[in-house]
Amino acid sequence: MSNSSFKTYDAIVLGAGGAGLMCAAIAGQRGKRVLVIDHASKPGKKILISGGGRCNFTNIDARAECYLSQNRHFGKSALGRYTAQDFIDLVNKHKIAWHEKELGQLFCDDSARQIVKLLLDECAKGDVTIQLGQPIRDVSHSDARYTVTLDTLTATAPALVIATGGPSIPKMGATDFAFHLARQFELKIVEPRPALVPLTLGEDELLFRNLSGVSTDAVARHGKTKFRAGTLFTHKGLSGPSILQISSYWRKGEQIGINFLPDHSADWLIDAKKAAPRSGLKTALATAFPDRLATALAEKLALPGEMANIPDKKLRAAHARLSDWPFTPTGSEGYAKAEVTLGGINTNGLSSQTMESKHLPGLYAIGEAVDVTGWLGGYNFQWAWSSGWAAGMAL
Ligand code: FDA
Repeated sequence: MSNSSFKTYDAIVLGAGGAGLMCAAIAGQRGKRVLVIDHASKPGKKILISGGGRCNFTNIDARAECYLSQNRHFGKSALGRYTAQDFIDLVNKHKIAWHEKELGQLFCDDSARQIVKLLLDECAKGDVTIQLGQPIRDVSHSDARYTVTLDTLTATAPALVIATGGPSIPKMGATDFAFHLARQFELKIVEPRPALVPLTLGEDELLFRNLSGVSTDAVARHGKTKFRAGTLFTHKGLSGPSILQISSYWRKGEQIGINFLPDHSADWLIDAKKAAPRSGLKTALATAFPDRLATALAEKLALPGEMANIPDKKLRAAHARLSDWPFTPTGSEGYAKAEVTLGGINTNGLSSQTMESKHLPGLYAIGEAVDVTGWLGGYNFQWAWSSGWAAGMAL
């Protein structure tokens, strides 16, 4: 006798992350019988480690312009109908204390576990069934029904939601399953790549790599896109929020510029020369930077001797270089360190209202699996909530 059971539902959601749980809770509370399946032993693992354990659960400024996608308009509908304020209201309803850290980024005062509990409580309210800890053996579609096979369960439903995220941080159980499934059902994929990820520098930038641990407030630039935030040197290259942000725009072979002096005027080195003509450039730079960075930058600028003997023109040129220091990263630290995956299921094949496939009725894709990737700062969870809500309302 087989110990595998067979069950029918109104919808099966693959992936118990932020997007999948939100979608299941909404659909369940609308009276749908929903099954959520995840191969992990517990739900919401990425939520638990997010925001340093406090989950940066939204950004009050979340709008479509803060997301990268081949179709920059795609996110507008869902983000406009389920907003950051809607999620804040839910957080308040669950009496979770929160604070704004900076730049509209909202964090739990206490723990990211509270956000997972919120989602599980909302799922329980909708009588959602959650099946964890088993690999998905097969997914098929026939006679307008989707069938998902696990070792001990075969489930079938007229609707299937792909919410298994992207492949960033594989050691946490992240996979590219969503993309395989999407291809199986003839949805196209925008080439995925690691994003919000530290960048690596080559041997010729060893001086900077030797600054490992040094951090400074700077503006990272790629083309016309700029982010001002902490910039961190690592033993492999560059990191910190400004670099993570710009990494989503950067492609191999391209240059980025770093403005180490966002608040200094073009003549500040000339003023420093007037104030202390007998000192060297490194001493002037040390008023603006951590000591080790000042030493490295002075070495790179190669203007030895007393400031009095350095012509103003050269000091202006040094300032110009410090204001847009060119780096050509050799690569990134890859999916092992990437907070998100850029690209994914092409939005052309999906309805922006419902997240349903335009070609295959009953098939939905939400969250990070879709080609909508937010900036650093709570935007990616907001996309998980908004897209999950949009599908949950349509199921
Ligand atoms: P998510 O990846 O969360 O969930 C997918 C689920 O599918 C997982 O539970 C996984 O186990 C399951 N799954 C995968 N493959 C499967 C398979 N083959 N079979 C069955 N199940 C499978 N964002 C933000 O807004 N604020 C923040 O503070 C942070 N912080 C942060 C820190 C770190 C370290 C990382 C890696 C990421 C963040 N993020 C973030 C990004 C955020 O975590 C991410 O965008 C969302 O979790 C995406 O939610 P999803 O539900 O789409 O995927």
